Amino acid sequence: MWGGRFSSSPSALMEAINASIDFDKRLYAQDVQGSIAHSAMLAKQGIIAESDRDAIHQGLQRVLGEIESGNFTFSTALEDIHMNVESRLREIIGDPAARLHTARSRNDQVATDTRLWVREAHDRAEEQLTNLIKALLDKAEAHAATVMPGFTHLQSAQPVTFGHHLMAYVEMFGRDRSRFRDSRKRLNECPLGAGALAGTSFPIDRHMTAKALGFDGPTRNSLDTVSDRDSLLEFMAAASICAMHLSRLAEETIIWMSAPFGFVKLPDRWTTGSSMMPQKRNPDAAELVRGKTGRVIGSLVSLLTVMKGLPLAYAKDMQEDKEPLFDAADTLEIVLAATTGMIQDLEPVPERMAAVAGAGFSTATDLADWLVRSLNIPFRDAHHVTGRIVSEAEKRGCSFEELPLEVMQAVEPKIHKGIYDVLGVENSVRSRTSFGGTSPVRVAEQVAWWRSQV
Ligand code: ARG
Repeated sequence: MWGGRFSSSPSALMEAINASIDFDKRLYAQDVQGSIAHSAMLAKQGIIAESDRDAIHQGLQRVLGEIESGNFTFSTALEDIHMNVESRLREIIGDPAARLHTARSRNDQVATDTRLWVREAHDRAEEQLTNLIKALLDKAEAHAATVMPGFTHLQSAQPVTFGHHLMAYVEMFGRDRSRFRDSRKRLNECPLGAGALAGTSFPIDRHMTAKALGFDGPTRNSLDTVSDRDSLLEFMAAASICAMHLSRLAEETIIWMSAPFGFVKLPDRWTTGSSMMPQKRNPDAAELVRGKTGRVIGSLVSLLTVMKGLPLAYAKDMQEDKEPLFDAADTLEIVLAATTGMIQDLEPVPERMAAVAGAGFSTATDLADWLVRSLNIPFRDAHHVTGRIVSEAEKRGCSFEELPLEVMQAVEPKIHKGIYDVLGVENSVRSRTSFGGTSPVRVAEQVAWWRSQV
């Protein structure tokens, strides 16, 4: 492609380090799409003949067909997808192919191809997140009143409902979805026409190509355009946050599935056995969701590191953007799908959750609140009284509900039997009716609100 200036061909190692075709072939459809839009614009502006445009379009359709049917030979010597496509086009249609690259550089071409690709990745992520949210809503609705222990520091804190717990993840995935939507809006400007870095002297119409490729308009600064990879970084940042959320849900699923907890069951299709220990059922899918999060975050850090020292405008370092992008997108796709499947198949065990929901004196706050409400004791003092009651119960190895009234009265004489009403986990959960709280009525409201958002 630049034989005019060079007298010998690159060394084998130069070719090996330089070639990106092994991975950027995934941009073939976007590359063809971009070339069709570019050549249509060139003809409309009178820069190439309409007959050349028609030949280019027919030839590109044939190239596309060859790639899609697996009848295309990719060449490492031709470096990347752009030159592979153009070179084959030339073989098919001859001279008119040589006019396609007028007023274009691979720098604006690759920027356009990757934006088109990452735009689709955004749309996929958004759709998958919507499906995951729907799966969580179904489970949360069914378990709006299923009591489970709530934790802080992984110590029993206050009882909550399983529905409420799942709805916490709906909030996270809802934010993830809006992050993808938000970054998609920002990326939807067309790089094509920025040229190598400075624009072009040909009378191109960048608005026309932008429109043809579904962009809101052209980018404004040609230097920025060819040296910007923000849209990939934003995708990977949103993917990393989303993967972190998926990983936390996976981690909880793993804990809930463990025998000492036994809060949920996952059917065989999401687990594996052990080759040695016959009793085992391992939550491998959840573990891999947790583990693969490392790859997504790693991809983001990798590209940030590539970009951070680059002077304007394009430098070949930027070719290192694609592998992390593809890996992050592929990984996100599979972990989102697997998580949605696991959530759909997750079977909570309400008896187990209820059995431990009251453990660790998880209704102590209810007791303290009752002292405030019924006996008008200031909260700080009520906290102290409750602490003493906890230690009495601990000494006797019993729960609050099993503690005789006299023992409580020995700590605070004004306590009467009305206190027993608030000590049960069901009552505790039902009483938490503040906006966003764990009470089943509030959980049902959260579910209803989210149903209107999906
Ligand atoms: N394969 C290259 C990349 O991905 C395309 C752009 C090449 N541009 C250049 N000036 N060598 O970045």
